[in-house]
Amino acid sequence: MNADIHSYEPRLGHGLPHDPFNAIVGPRPIGWISSRGEGGAVNLAPYSFFNGFNYTPPIVGFASIGFKDTVRNVLQTREFVWNLATRALAEQMNASCAAVAPEVNEFELAGLTQAPSRLVGPPRVAESPVAFECRLTQSFQLQDAHGAPVDSWMVLGEVVAVHIDRAMLKDGVYDTAAARPILRGGGPADYFEISPETRFRMFRPR
Ligand SMILES: Cc1cc2nc3c(=O)[nH]c(=O)nc-3n(C[C@H](O)[C@H](O)[C@H](O)COP(=O)(O)O)c2cc1C
Repeated sequence: MNADIHSYEPRLGHGLPHDPFNAIVGPRPIGWISSRGEGGAVNLAPYSFFNGFNYTPPIVGFASIGFKDTVRNVLQTREFVWNLATRALAEQMNASCAAVAPEVNEFELAGLTQAPSRLVGPPRVAESPVAFECRLTQSFQLQDAHGAPVDSWMVLGEVVAVHIDRAMLKDGVYDTAAARPILRGGGPADYFEISPETRFRMFRPR
């Protein structure tokens, strides 16, 4: 045993004041997802178990820990919208994670404006500089290494329409740092902000 290495098997506990998993697999982009239930109720919530998984067609996905309103809505209507969470919208993003009844519209709760989508039913966040309209491609319940079901659901969707504030385009190239996106770190409250100073460039070997 190397005394300098803290090793553990997660199923037996991490033995630390806080589970480090979230802080290690991070910072993570935030899937700020708007959706609508089959009855039409609008929902908005952040999901940091989120990422992009394919270029052509573009596919994004998120995992819901527990069967939450967003998953139920997406399974009912097969549509959702991803909205970019930025430093300027951090407080509103955070307000939209409140555990409220399905009929509560988190746009109103967080003081955000609904902008109509072009191809899907759920609205996008008008204040957000980028939004993806998505159609459900796959969803499944996660399993552990023994094949036992875990109380978590994976949702994947094809991006069928994209909206970008032209201020984010520099000579036509999307500038990641321009929007000041925020990413989720670990612990109860850590976030990171993307800024131009933290960028470095590295080209792949030929
Ligand atoms: C930054 C941030 C990231 C979050 N990421 C997730 C996540 O990846 N999965 C999850 O199940 N909940 C996540 N949550 C909690 C949900 O947003 C919260 O449970 C919310 O009430 C779910 O809303 P819904 O039931 O309307 O879908 C996150 C919350 C915050 C603030």
